[in-house]
Amino acid sequence: MITPSPQSRLLSRRRLVLAAAAGAVVSLPSVSWARPAAAPGIVKPLPPELFTVRGTNAETKWEALRDTGPLTPVDRFFVRNHTSTPRLEADTWSLRIWGDGLRGGPVSFSYRQLRALPSVTRTAFLECAGNGRGFYTSQQGDEVTGTPWTLGAIGAARWRGARLGDVLRLAGITREAVDVMPRGLDDPYVSGGVDHGRVRRPLPVAKAMDDVLLAYEMNGAPLPYDHGYPVRVLAPSWIGIASVKWVGDIEVSARSLGSPWNTEFYRLFGPAYPPGGSAPLTRQTVKSAFELAPGAVFGAGRTYRLSGRSWSGHGAVLAVEVSTDGGAHWRPARLHDAPRPDGWVRWSVPWRPEAPGRAALLARATDAAGHRQPERSVPNTQGYLFDAVVRHPVTVK
Ligand code: MTE
Repeated sequence: MITPSPQSRLLSRRRLVLAAAAGAVVSLPSVSWARPAAAPGIVKPLPPELFTVRGTNAETKWEALRDTGPLTPVDRFFVRNHTSTPRLEADTWSLRIWGDGLRGGPVSFSYRQLRALPSVTRTAFLECAGNGRGFYTSQQGDEVTGTPWTLGAIGAARWRGARLGDVLRLAGITREAVDVMPRGLDDPYVSGGVDHGRVRRPLPVAKAMDDVLLAYEMNGAPLPYDHGYPVRVLAPSWIGIASVKWVGDIEVSARSLGSPWNTEFYRLFGPAYPPGGSAPLTRQTVKSAFELAPGAVFGAGRTYRLSGRSWSGHGAVLAVEVSTDGGAHWRPARLHDAPRPDGWVRWSVPWRPEAPGRAALLARATDAAGHRQPERSVPNTQGYLFDAVVRHPVTVK
């Protein structure tokens, strides 16, 4: 049984003042001290200094990640819900593995049986395929559908769980199996009058047997309700929809499987793509963000430490460059973490703004696969996989 953690209270005003006095950002973020905002169906508190509520979802504010270390505390980890968080019980939960890709009939695992299997602990980020979508419109003028996330539909956590591969082997997966499809126990997703059924998306067997977890812990504690309690799939480096929460069953199939989440959604459509759309999306793109509120205010003639993070689903981030003059000049940022796949690197640069006025801060990362963030993302109608350099507006006074 999980109860919301006491740390999930409002960030204290004292901490903010101390952080400012320590020479970080001089202005306090604009904080509203009203009651936490409510998103229909999210269990944990969503204080406005930590989250922006977007429909059934909650986006992490980047200024709330400053000084948080490499792992995102659960009280500020973004939530992406198609419907609402179900409050399931571990004691009555079970996972049913079934389908024509098994040697025998269906096999079920209780929570206790799953936890008795060898466990793996792994740090990985989890990021929505639509993270950054809002910039297609606000920065590029493209028309796209979907939640207009800025850059806060990402978090990194230490996950612990059983290997999906071990569970599939115990269930009797055959060599003929090609796809497995985990399905969530949350309510069916109805949109535009169409009932799409429960959230489910096929994973190719190669990925499922490689590095996917059936996770039951996040940052050393049982998963919170909103993040999949009691058990979720965790597919490192792939778009968030591959990490099905509240998993209740997994179909193992000798034929390739389809669901709206790999045919209609989570593919790229638009003039740059084939009429039937791209292949179903897998890995995330490379991105960077400043740990700063949009519109933050700086004093001219003072030295600041700008900080941020960069990450990529294609490999470790090897280099980050920052521009404080709208992209005219770039300089390397200092990296504070060893580059590693599935994780983000924290970075910083000193900045002494001289001239009062508006400025744009830009950060641009390069990953081990050679992807460097472009000036412009190729648009797609549903606004997935934004990867362009974001212009972060600030004011110097
Ligand atoms: N699984 C279920 N069952 N239902 C959902 O709505 N949303 C998916 C994925 N798994 C979802 C789900 C999407 S789109 C994302 S980005 C991640 O969960 C978000 O995980 P989080 O809410 O723990 O941050």
